[in-house]
Amino acid sequence: MKEREHFGSRRAVIYAMAGSAIGLGNIWRFPYMVGEHGGAVFVISYIVATLLVSLPVFIAEVTIGRRARTGSYAAMRRLDPAHRGWRWAGLLSIFIPMVILCYYSVIGGWSLFYLFKACAFDFVGTSPEAAETLFGGFISSVWTPIGMHLAFLAACAWIVARGVKSGIERFSKLTIPALFVLIVLMIAYSLSLPGASQGVRYLWHPDASALNVKTFVYAMGQSFFSLSLGMGAIITYGSYVKSDENLVVSSAGTAVFDLLFALLAGMAIMPAIFAADIKPGAGPGLIFQGIPFIFSSLGARLPVLSSLIAIIFFLAIVVAAMTSVISLIEVGVSFLGERFSVSRPKACALIFAVCGAVGVVCSLSFGPLSGIKVVGKSIFDLFDWFASNVLLLLMAFIVVIFVGFFMKKEDVRDEITNGGRKKLNDKLFGVIYFLIKWVAPICVLSIFVTNFIL
Ligand code: PHE
Repeated sequence: MKEREHFGSRRAVIYAMAGSAIGLGNIWRFPYMVGEHGGAVFVISYIVATLLVSLPVFIAEVTIGRRARTGSYAAMRRLDPAHRGWRWAGLLSIFIPMVILCYYSVIGGWSLFYLFKACAFDFVGTSPEAAETLFGGFISSVWTPIGMHLAFLAACAWIVARGVKSGIERFSKLTIPALFVLIVLMIAYSLSLPGASQGVRYLWHPDASALNVKTFVYAMGQSFFSLSLGMGAIITYGSYVKSDENLVVSSAGTAVFDLLFALLAGMAIMPAIFAADIKPGAGPGLIFQGIPFIFSSLGARLPVLSSLIAIIFFLAIVVAAMTSVISLIEVGVSFLGERFSVSRPKACALIFAVCGAVGVVCSLSFGPLSGIKVVGKSIFDLFDWFASNVLLLLMAFIVVIFVGFFMKKEDVRDEITNGGRKKLNDKLFGVIYFLIKWVAPICVLSIFVTNFIL
């Protein structure tokens, strides 16, 4: 068998996984979910879900990937050949990232458009109202958002076509630390705005009346989405992790870093939203409506500084979105390569063609197709809801059941403790295994079912 490529070092593993995890999920989706689902109550549910459920699922996915040494399609089958049904789980794990890719790259395209706008100093000198209507005009138009979506997706596909090491590692090593610094700068700026404290209160002071089961479903879906769980991405990355790597440390490092990043993004954006008097429940457009509004009002006083911050901010978003999309494409590429021996460039081209085309429909659902509603949701919302609140939960459930009930406990221990060599992991194994086998499946299932019953 051909030797599988490996990530070079511990840092490279964490950077690549964090590169997948940190993306629009943290910067775009988290703030708008917080805004739509009651502020601090959502934030707290999200933190609990991440530590109690997502982290064990994360460890379970890396365990499967590294043990099987293959992409997510074949991984479970290889570990448990007796049950043919794992093939369906494998197929599901390929299908989900492709669904996400279709609409995620539309938002990647929006970010690209705003980066161009920022570079053209378009947020300076426009009135706040004009900045607000810019967004509405843009997303409801036909060609520009489609062009941006396709350009964004093509750039990512091109990077993946160049290979695991040269493409993904180099790219994410460079951008993740830079992104972190940018977000911290944004917080300082945002907190200095008049009225910012209201946003801070909204994020951190829970309002008990906002509490309901839906909050938990969305918080858990958001947590899985943000950590790239329940869709094969982390299984696939796990298969590139070296056998002497400490899997618990890498997983926990990524989860905590991603959590922190979402909270920082929330702290950067929410105060600004309140300062600008924008409704936090504005939906997917929240940051795109809020941020230019801020830049234009600041731009009236400090045009150069405001333009600089705008450029840096949207550049950061585009880069974060790219590293995530790269990992989505990687799932499909590894499937097509291993199953059908399709070459990397060909696989990338194929994924670009299919997801690009479906993405066009998602993009149009903000404009000419906005009248089409399925169960009260636009096509875009339907994709997002179905992927994160249904498919991700389902797949995460399958993953923990697989590790908890279908893998031999000794094999799981062997993987998590590196054959007993990681002493601390050995001590923690009982707790980790209990979380994977019982806590995670029960939480996911009960929240999922309650949501459908209520
Ligand atoms: N986790 C990424 C984010 O937060 C999105 C993503 C989902 C990436 C699934 C890869 C796989 O933006």
